[in-house]
Amino acid sequence: MNKSVAIDGPAGAGKSTLARRLAQRLGFLYVDTGAIYRTVGLYTLRNRLAPEEVVPMLEKLDIRMEYDSGGVQRMRLNGEDVSEAIRVHEVSQRASQVAALPEVRAFLLDFQRRQAREHSVVMDGRDIGTVVLPDADVKIFLTASPEVRAKRRLLELEQRGQPAQYEQILQDIQDRDRQDRNRAAAPLRQAEDAVRLDTSGLDLEQSLTQMLEIVSGRQNGRQEV
Ligand code: DC
Repeated sequence: MNKSVAIDGPAGAGKSTLARRLAQRLGFLYVDTGAIYRTVGLYTLRNRLAPEEVVPMLEKLDIRMEYDSGGVQRMRLNGEDVSEAIRVHEVSQRASQVAALPEVRAFLLDFQRRQAREHSVVMDGRDIGTVVLPDADVKIFLTASPEVRAKRRLLELEQRGQPAQYEQILQDIQDRDRQDRNRAAAPLRQAEDAVRLDTSGLDLEQSLTQMLEIVSGRQNGRQEV
């Protein structure tokens, strides 16, 4: 029987790094669902489409999620590996816009659920505990203050050789939070049965330790995975 850990939270809370590490520790597959929305967003930008113009084209889009030999998730769009192309700033904003469209969300739902049917997963996103995997074995809502999240994002971009301005990043994070929380379709919110973890004052290792404790049921009496 496959197990699932759902991790939701706002942009820059450390979800992807922590979810990936948690998946390694548990021996589960890590599924980054934001990458799928980013791939749809990239398609609209490249084809000069307004976000909603992608809706009638969804069926024709060939979006694939693959894993390389190191277990790292790669995204393919119509055959091309777009794993790096989806990480740029413009695509983040566009992903948030296409993600607000109910038709896009409905289209991607099965895709995400299939991964959890076929594998034990740690899946991260915005609506995993509320919509995609409401019966997940463990749900964690990861958060941190906007300022801490902006600083982390800045560091991450610098490490990738994409220096940016702190103020700009903070603004982007606040805009995306607003858009992701206030949309009508599957807005970002904490599931009632999720354990909230604020990582503002924690480093990566401390956050991971806390997550492992949540998963093993040592916090809030949840069941062991
Ligand atoms: O996690 P991320 O920053 O890569 O996600 C990009 C955008 O996709 C984010 O602004 C909101 C959207 N998203 C979503 O609506 N639902 C998900 N499960 C994952 C991402």
